[in-house]
Amino acid sequence: MTPTSATTGDPLDVERIKKDFPILERRVRGKRLVYLDSANTSQKPRAVLDAIDSYYERSNANVHRGTYLIAEEATAALEGARTKVAGFVGARSEREVVFTKNATEALNLVAKAWGRANLRAGDPVVITELEHHANIVPWHQLVDEVGIELRWIPVGADGHLDLTDLDRLLDGARVLSFAAMSNVLGTMTPVERLVAAAHDAGAIAVVDASQHVPHVPTDVAAWGADFAAFTGHKMCGPTGIGVLWGTETILDATPPFLTGGEMILNVTKEGFTANELPWKFEAGTPPIAEAVGLGAAVDYLDGLGMAAVREHEVALTGYALRSLAERFGDDLRVHGPAEPAERGGVLSFTYRDVHPHDLTQVFDERGVCVRAGHHCAKPLMRELGVAATARASLYVYNDEADVDALGDAIGAASDFFSF
Ligand SMILES: Cc1ncc(COP(=O)(O)O)c(C=O)c1O
Repeated sequence: MTPTSATTGDPLDVERIKKDFPILERRVRGKRLVYLDSANTSQKPRAVLDAIDSYYERSNANVHRGTYLIAEEATAALEGARTKVAGFVGARSEREVVFTKNATEALNLVAKAWGRANLRAGDPVVITELEHHANIVPWHQLVDEVGIELRWIPVGADGHLDLTDLDRLLDGARVLSFAAMSNVLGTMTPVERLVAAAHDAGAIAVVDASQHVPHVPTDVAAWGADFAAFTGHKMCGPTGIGVLWGTETILDATPPFLTGGEMILNVTKEGFTANELPWKFEAGTPPIAEAVGLGAAVDYLDGLGMAAVREHEVALTGYALRSLAERFGDDLRVHGPAEPAERGGVLSFTYRDVHPHDLTQVFDERGVCVRAGHHCAKPLMRELGVAATARASLYVYNDEADVDALGDAIGAASDFFSF
């Protein structure tokens, strides 16, 4: 019998949730689609697809400049989505919510706009070894352009940040920028402690919340950070939209990033006056339909309840860690914290000496979608001593049957490579 939320006591009714996602009805290679790559991008529920369709079918027009009804509707749809996002992450006002293309653009905005205006040669910027390239490369550029000093908080053997030398690393620092949850190890970092330590040292705190917001109740105001970045497509929303949240104080102190239309109050031959928050950072026609889709995604996740989402993922991650360990023992090495409550549902693993790409190719024949590679975290992979891992990642529409399908796929790969 396929386990369901009714039989497992799961706080989410996953059987019902699966029906909300049309793509999960697909068969691939003659098999049920088992989607285990949500840390990469999530699937989209019908409600999000319908909201985007309905926007284009009924209200499509450009925003903030219309003098007719559907343009007013489009503007209301965009700004309504901003209000929903603000509420979802605990922002104090919509002025703190800047729409970007994705989390990468949001983090580039921080490094390039705030960083270039505020950092000088020799200024220390602290990041961690578990960062995604999106929170590394923009800082590397400032090393080259400005001469900042990049410092790294190490990751310990248990998959957690090693904070032994935190005070020394933060001494004189101007920025501490770190992920709230690792996209490779699932590690949850102690956000409030790190933010407080950054502020005590006189640094600003930037949180890459890309893997946190989709999976864990998030309250940016309670974090007390200065900036937080996340991305719509990992939280049931469409691609093409991300968010930079920032306090009004720091956003006011940050010059515009991209410039042109929409982000101005006035332009003369002599210069320009930037628009008010948050539009000061939204140059050009914004991703209107994408914002509408993100608003619908927020409604969808709110409907499930983020506390229930987190509870579901902790339970399912625990099941995955237990059942895969029982089945494969030491042949399967899952990286990251051992305790489900200290991690997200991201399972990076290696199986004996099979290359992760070979593993996932066998998985694909069974309809099981798992990512293989460096997961845009090459410095971390080097610390782990591996070139690549296979990474299965769980979300609201996954259940124990999906984890069992992963186990069967690993078993099939093991047979194929004749262990
Ligand atoms: C932790 C983390 N930060 C940033 C990103 C970048 O997200 P995007 O590609 O949507 O900009 C990702 C995506 O994998 C991520 O996992």
